[in-house]
Amino acid sequence: MKILFTVFCLLSLNASANELFAKADIAAGKALHEKNCISCHASSFGGDGSGIYTREYAKVKTSKGLIAQVRACNTNIGLKWFEDEEISVAAYLNQTYYKFEQ
Ligand code: HEC
Repeated sequence: MKILFTVFCLLSLNASANELFAKADIAAGKALHEKNCISCHASSFGGDGSGIYTREYAKVKTSKGLIAQVRACNTNIGLKWFEDEEISVAAYLNQTYYKFEQ
């Protein structure tokens, strides 16, 4: 039992981006991101704001961390997105900028 539990924990720690983003709708994520997320990043990073995702010292290092960061910005600005919307935006950002496999 203990071994099974350990294996399960290891597997879930290593959940791949594909698994995490299985339910994502990339097109919806792109639209949500354009509507709600760009202006603020653009005003602090210039251009289309995407520099915040590609900067050398990017805070986010994994797809799990990316989902957490999307959730944090979502909560901060009070959008009240559902989990599937957060996942779709995170999946869009991953496909376009971060390209995490894990
Ligand atoms: C009110 C301004 C503002 C809005 C609106 C905003 N963000 Fe952010 N976002 C920031 C700031 C500032 C940072 C940098 C935080 C830091 O460096 O600690 C950030 C960082 C991030 C990062 C991490 C970048 C990295 O370092 O890799 C992600 C991902 C992100 N935001 C996603 C989003 C998403 C998705 C939305 C739309 C729901 C959003 N943000 C809306 C201000 C904003």
